[in-house]
Amino acid sequence: MADKKVQMSVALAGLSLRNPVMTASGTFGYGQEFSEYVDLERLGAFITKGLSLRPRPGNPTPRIVETPGGMLNAIGLQNVGIDAFIEKKLPFIRTVNTPCIANFFGDTVEEYAEMAQRLDEIPEIAALEMNISCPNVKHGGIVFGTDPASAAAVVAACRKATGKPLIVKLSPNVTDIVSMAKACADAGADALSMINTLIGMAIDLNKRRPVLANITGGLSGPAIKPVALRMVWAVSSAVKLPIIGIGGIMTATDAIEFILAGATAVQVGTASFITPGAAQQIAEGMEAWMLAQGEADIRNLIGALRT
Ligand SMILES: Cc1cc2nc3c(=O)[nH]c(=O)nc-3n(C[C@H](O)[C@H](O)[C@H](O)COP(=O)(O)O)c2cc1C
Repeated sequence: MADKKVQMSVALAGLSLRNPVMTASGTFGYGQEFSEYVDLERLGAFITKGLSLRPRPGNPTPRIVETPGGMLNAIGLQNVGIDAFIEKKLPFIRTVNTPCIANFFGDTVEEYAEMAQRLDEIPEIAALEMNISCPNVKHGGIVFGTDPASAAAVVAACRKATGKPLIVKLSPNVTDIVSMAKACADAGADALSMINTLIGMAIDLNKRRPVLANITGGLSGPAIKPVALRMVWAVSSAVKLPIIGIGGIMTATDAIEFILAGATAVQVGTASFITPGAAQQIAEGMEAWMLAQGEADIRNLIGALRT
């Protein structure tokens, strides 16, 4: 599989990745949970569950439901908090020779900036991914992710707080994704990751109630791939920053489609719930696809879509 003739490494916002495949935040724990199923050193990078200043219990259950072609979740950004992350999760992360990207969020601009600064001090963290797009919490998240001026303010504050690569994760729950991307670029983002989940709901007809305790949740999985592809393509055509494509990537060829649409790298999310080894399989499958196509360098495919 690992034929030396295929060049799979990509550079992204100062990071050097052995291949373009990362794991998506919230679908891969803090890395260690999946280490039994995935050789983390065969991935381009792995991303932590979204971290906050204080631990969070998340939303009441039920908070996950399968839907046609995907799933809805309303986890509500449950996480151990930055202090427990440093004490309990970092020792494992330190042993892995693959960039670890910390996903984080806050309720206010000040909290975002404080998180960026705390993460900036951790040498094992290669880059920061700001979640300005979580639909499942009452404060922060989606507010910053749907208004260009608010997004710019929170990105600028984090930019001041860290010298590490700053990736901003965009919400698809907007009318004009390009103006959001431009606002984040102008405020100092080094890269954009897209997309987060689309707000949806499911109904239990017998009970005549919403299935999720939170009523609404974030839709992920194959159902959102066409939306994600369209958004990656639109942003890559309008903004110079590198893009990490996310949304319903289940196979190697799904990932290649995102690269053609303009993504430099990709993240695998929901697929890891179905097949815990999905991210590694996708990375290896991309290489096999390249070989079969006679393609020598993955970088030649970035944005190579013919329109
Ligand atoms: C259960 C679950 C938890 C998630 N938690 C986070 C999170 O903490 N931070 C974040 O930025 N995105 C989070 N996401 C969004 C994913 O990282 C990803 O953007 C989304 O699921 C779309 O990709 P997919 O279709 O491959 O799953 C979560 C998604 C799921 C399904």
